[in-house]
Amino acid sequence: MEKIRVENLTKIFGKHPQKALEELEKGKKRDEILKETHHTVGIGNVSFSVHEGETFVIMGLSGSGKSTLIRCLNLLNKPTAGKIFVDDENILDYDKKALRQFRQTKIAMVFQHFGLFSHRSVLENVEFGLEIKKMDKEERVTKSLEMLKAVGLEGWEYHKVSALSGGMKQRVGLARALANEPEIILMDEPFSALDPLIRRDMHTELLDLQAKLKKTIIFITHDVNEAFKLGDRIAVLKDGEMVQIGTPEEILDNPADEYITNFIEDIDRSRVLRAENIMRKRSLKIGKNTAAKIALEILNDSDYEHGFITDRHDNRILGVVDADDLLLAIKGKLPIAEVMHTDFVSVSEDAYVKEVLEIAAATKYPVAVVNGEGEYVGRIQRAALLKALV
Ligand SMILES: Nc1ncnc2c1ncn2[C@@H]1O[C@H](COP(=O)(O)OP(=O)(O)OP(=O)(O)O)[C@@H](O)[C@H]1O
Ligand SMILES: [Mg+2]
Repeated sequence: MEKIRVENLTKIFGKHPQKALEELEKGKKRDEILKETHHTVGIGNVSFSVHEGETFVIMGLSGSGKSTLIRCLNLLNKPTAGKIFVDDENILDYDKKALRQFRQTKIAMVFQHFGLFSHRSVLENVEFGLEIKKMDKEERVTKSLEMLKAVGLEGWEYHKVSALSGGMKQRVGLARALANEPEIILMDEPFSALDPLIRRDMHTELLDLQAKLKKTIIFITHDVNEAFKLGDRIAVLKDGEMVQIGTPEEILDNPADEYITNFIEDIDRSRVLRAENIMRKRSLKIGKNTAAKIALEILNDSDYEHGFITDRHDNRILGVVDADDLLLAIKGKLPIAEVMHTDFVSVSEDAYVKEVLEIAAATKYPVAVVNGEGEYVGRIQRAALLKALV
């Protein structure tokens, strides 16, 4: 379901944005407008929508308009033109009261530089938004303690924020955003000030939290690996314009232009692609009761060296054979079950290629891929693994 829909959104900074808007609509470029009118097109004509429960990442170089865009979504920036629908209501039509209501209940923001009160305690910082909402003391303390626990800050409630490390401060920011129980969370480079190791912890934390909470998250980053790790879909901004929107796999497979190609150059594909993206779908069927002679014919007609043997009833993999095994069975008049090897390995279809790589190194057979029910759905040959990584 669609949660947010942004239509032709433009934000121009300067004294007479409407005048500059006319220039933009005439087709003038961002740098021409800057040169000629001294107005900055923060974002120009941006359209996209975000699904409910999705983590939507916006990526782009410094100055590409990421912060401008995300700050439009809660109207910290007043757009120069365009529409922003949240649950099908154009938030630009809201009056003061409706806007306050919207900010207090529907949307919350986590900033890069924390935006916390450093002399207040951790708990008081988390309580802050609830205080504004006039929630009574006891209820808001209970709620805040619960949120601090959720982000792993149990035990730190009464410490001053100034005494915390960067990663912990960001957890406070996250707890504060979550305490309001917003449906949408905006995160503007929340982890970019953190050390790589702490940043990795925060990624795991966010992914775990999101698996439970299923919020609609808009996450901004200029780090491509972070984008591909966290995003269900990724939008790429360049010079205030949206150049591509897609899933990580779609963008890797089909980068829209050179800007994006450069962006994804040093991405670690093994952490983005999953088994199902690189497997060959199950095409060869050999049931465990198939006569060895027939099985050999099936194998010979395929371009595979190995055949997985499955149980006819539940599609589970029982073993793997090659042509020599089948010849042995034919000669000895043995059922396939007696010549097949059971020391094959399998991975789930949503396993990352990184895991598949580790497993593949320890087997001489192709890696079998199974779905959530344990049924055989495909295989990964070693060559496919290598190809996926270049
Ligand atoms: N309040 C403002 N007044 C004037 N110009 C602004 C303002 N905010 C942003 N800009 C300009 O708009 C453009 C986009 O800035 P923005 O902060 O959105 O980029 P960003 O992608 O978030 O960059 P970064 O990665 O450095 O945070 C820049 O040229 C910036 O100078
Ligand atoms: Mg920014």
